[in-house]
Amino acid sequence: MRVFKIITIAFVLASSMFMPAVQAEGQKNPTIEKTVFLTGAAGFIGSNFLKYMFDRYPNYRFLVLDSLTYAGNMENIPEHIRLSPRFEFFYGSVTNYKLVDLLMSQSHYVVHLAAESHVTRSISDDTTFFETDVIGTRVMMTALVKYAKTVERYIHISTSEVCGTAEYQPMDEEHPINPRSPYAAAKAGADRLVYAYWCTYDIPAVIFRPFNNYGPQQHLEKCIPKFIYNGLNGRPLTVHGDGAQVRDWVHTFDVSRALDLALHHKEFEKIKNQVLHIGSGVPVSILDIAKLVANHLHLPEDVITFIGDRPGQVACHISSTQKAKELLGWEARISFEEGLQNVIEWYKANQSRLDRMESLMYVPIYTNENDLELH
Ligand SMILES: NC(=O)c1ccc[n+]([C@@H]2O[C@H](COP(=O)([O-])OP(=O)(O)OC[C@H]3O[C@@H](n4cnc5c(N)ncnc54)[C@H](O)[C@@H]3O)[C@@H](O)[C@H]2O)c1
Repeated sequence: MRVFKIITIAFVLASSMFMPAVQAEGQKNPTIEKTVFLTGAAGFIGSNFLKYMFDRYPNYRFLVLDSLTYAGNMENIPEHIRLSPRFEFFYGSVTNYKLVDLLMSQSHYVVHLAAESHVTRSISDDTTFFETDVIGTRVMMTALVKYAKTVERYIHISTSEVCGTAEYQPMDEEHPINPRSPYAAAKAGADRLVYAYWCTYDIPAVIFRPFNNYGPQQHLEKCIPKFIYNGLNGRPLTVHGDGAQVRDWVHTFDVSRALDLALHHKEFEKIKNQVLHIGSGVPVSILDIAKLVANHLHLPEDVITFIGDRPGQVACHISSTQKAKELLGWEARISFEEGLQNVIEWYKANQSRLDRMESLMYVPIYTNENDLELH
């Protein structure tokens, strides 16, 4: 029987005996070298990063805080991790200061990934976006300031979306911040909040701005999973607008490598208080992705259909790769073709899991033409 080590907030807050017990868990094992605190690791990028790190660092302990929204799924975390004494799961929100303080107090490395992350949902209703993405980040920052002497490295996961449509290409870290959707605005607030905190306090923080991630376990609401799932089920691949929107796609495995390099950078001062754009530098349009998916699945091109464009759309988004290469020694290794093949295989092998998410695939929004459409 599967046993999830889920420790509820109620338990954390109700028991004053609990704090020493949790600390003792890490101290019991003298081989534990570092404690890594991950927020949002039941989601797409966080769970891929956790899997990447867990076996590579057998002397690390992992604390995960996740409120298991519709986007969080314990199935994203393999059983061998869930059952390990090196893994502890805390069911709760990053807006809960007492809980964040408890976990930050024990941690050497922190990666803050938890967020409301779906652009279309933010157009439908953005309340939780500002609560989680902005207030949650402020809570994390407050705790980091308190534990700035014991936390060695803290990575804030922002997003390239804070920059909006490219004013020039490729987009480097000096690109203006012009968020074009409520999601991007909430993330821009969080991004600048972290910046303000490192200007004001001496904190060991770095901001990562990943471009469009793709990989196994991504939620069906996102474009690539939606194309693949619909293609596998004999449905049309629906493209917003004319599909000419260009994005920079980076595989989660490459993003995990970048995070690993930052956490283990030999000269951390070089990246401390720096913004890093994490992208492949390779442009691929949405229409091209639909065509590639159709081709991989041996579907005719007329399987691709078009609906109204999403309001607040970003037309073009390409990352400069220079700073990450210079400061981190990182560049993406997985080509889009190779990565897409890998993702299609994963979706084929995990159809039943995706079936359970199907009802969450579309959100109703009004387009620029004032039509109510499912996006
Ligand atoms: N997916 C991308 O293409 C992409 C690109 C750039 C940046 N990012 C950023 O990377 C991070 C992770 O993205 P993702 O695609 O894995 O997102 P996701 O939506 O798949 O996962 C988010 C996770 O955060 C959890 N969460 C939400 N609200 C929370 C709260 N209040 N407290 C604790 N946990 C909460 C969810 O349950 C989920 O497990 C986000 O900060 C996102 O903005 C994502």
